[in-house]
Parts: sequence; C-alpha cells; structure tokens
Amino acid sequence: MPIESDPPHGSAMTDRPLSEPRQEGTAPFDRLVEIVRGRRRIVALTGAGISTESGIPDYRGPQGVWTTGKLPRLDDFATNPETRRAYWAGWRDRYPELVAIQPNEGHRALVRLERAGLLTAVITQNIDGLHIAAGHEPERVMELHGSRRWFRCLANGHMWPAGEILESVRAGETEPACAICGSPLRSGTVLFGEALPPDTLRRATVAARDSDLMLVIGSSLVVNPAARLPGLARTAGAATAIVNREPTGLDDTFDVVVHGEAGPTLSRLVASLGLS
Ligand code: APR
Repeated sequence: MPIESDPPHGSAMTDRPLSEPRQEGTAPFDRLVEIVRGRRRIVALTGAGISTESGIPDYRGPQGVWTTGKLPRLDDFATNPETRRAYWAGWRDRYPELVAIQPNEGHRALVRLERAGLLTAVITQNIDGLHIAAGHEPERVMELHGSRRWFRCLANGHMWPAGEILESVRAGETEPACAICGSPLRSGTVLFGEALPPDTLRRATVAARDSDLMLVIGSSLVVNPAARLPGLARTAGAATAIVNREPTGLDDTFDVVVHGEAGPTLSRLVASLGLS
C-alpha cells in the first residue's frame, strides 16, 4: 500500500539542528537523552516489542505468531462457518487472559511525554489497544494495522466495540453477527494482503513529516508502509532514534540506536528528562 503523496510538510523553525550527527563515544542511552531533550514534536513509531513486557509475544521472536504460524485467512473465514466458530471459540477461551493484559512502563512513559507536551503522535503497528489503554488522547494514536478493540461487519464495515461482542461470546454466542444486517463479524484488525485504513495512514504520514524526532520502539522494521515512515521523517528534517532489543536492518539509518528493553529504557528516559 504506497504511502499517499501529499505535499511535503515543511518542518517549523526550531532552536536546534534537527538531524544530529551521530556522536561516537557517548553511551547510546546518553545519546538518546541528548537527542530527545528540547524536541517538541516527537512522534513514536511502535511495534510488537513495546508490548512483549505486557505478556504479548512479538511476531518474529521465538513465540511470535509468524514463528507459530497462527495467522487467520480472511477468505476461509468469510466462507467457512466452521472456521468462524473455531475463531470465536478461541476468543472465548482466551478472553480472561486478554482482558488481564495491561499497558507496561514503556506505554506509560510515552503518555508522560505526551502530557508534557513533547510527543504529538503515536503511530503503532500493534493491534492490542495498549497505547489508548495507557492514557493517550485517542486522536493522537494511529493504529496502522487496526485494533482488536473492535470487530467489523464483513458486509457493511460497521465497527462494533469488542467488549460487547466478547461478552455475548462468553454468554454462549458461537457466531456473533452484525446487529444491523446480520452478516458475520470479523476482526477489526488489518490482515496481511489487506489495504491499511487510508485516513490513518495519511495522518501517520503527515505526523511523521511534521515531527522533529521520530522515535522507533520495539519494531523489526520489516513491514511496509510502517518501515518507510522513519525515512520520511528524516527526509523532512527530523532526527531519528530507535530503541529495540535486537539490531534491525535499518539501524545504520538512525541518528541514535539503543539496543535494550523498551520499558526500562523509556522509563529511564522520561526520568532523565525530569518528567514525573
Ligand atoms: N524491548 C525492546 N524491543 C523488543 C522487546 C522489548 N521488550 N521485545 C521484542 N523486541 C523487539 C524484537 O527484538 C523485534 O526486533 O521488537 C521487535 C519486534 O519485531 P516484530 O516481532 O517483527 O514485530 P513488528 O515489527 O511490530 O512487526 C510488524 O508485522 O506481522 C506483522 O502486522 C504484524 O504489526 C506487525 C508487523
């Protein structure tokens, strides 16, 4: 899904050079604090790695869904009642575990950056809804791959809050249907091969181009169009930093690279900035 080509977004005047040369010799974490300090239009781009500390496996790690191969196929789901019943039975069985999942210190640190007026947007590839649950203004969170906080009607696209639907499943419903037209409901997430929600992608592109720092957290940066957003921000003059447990194929394009755990690193970062 190509990123829409809206007019290049000029970056507003700032009191410091936006794209910092990498200062060798300083510890990566200290460079992270240095590059964040003084930024006022930080945009976070998050991946599954910010949620593993909440108990959700990432995609390409040893327990990841790509490793275990449990990805749904939409065409089978749409035509096969057995597939749909198995899908909803899975939700029923996992419901207690799912509702127990909470935001972690990494999510909370980003909320502190937003409340301090330093972070303008969170662009996330995650479908877990944990950024909104952590306390961000919902309109500042762009869920590129949708969210499991909603289910969508296969026929008319109407979105239904997941809580209500899952309560009906727990009460014995085996195939929840759209209350408007009676068609089957499907996940509110974007499955592989599907187009991303165009307005969300457009807003994310504008936010990336308007940022003065793109801060990537917990992503392998192997899936587009998300993986192209740091380059867009850099081209528009932003500095870039990544916090990730493992090296990524794009590390060399970042001004600052920190290999470490997202939660503790982000908590230390906001503490170093004096944000309570
Ligand atoms: N702290 C920091 N980094 C972490 C942590 C952690 N606690 N846990 C995992 N990571 C890192 C991993 O090392 C990995 O590089 O986070 C990255 C997660 O990468 P992926 O599992 O590939 O997840 P993501 O980048 O979000 O995948 C993008 O692919 O399957 C699709 O739609 C799916 O949104 C997903 C997209």
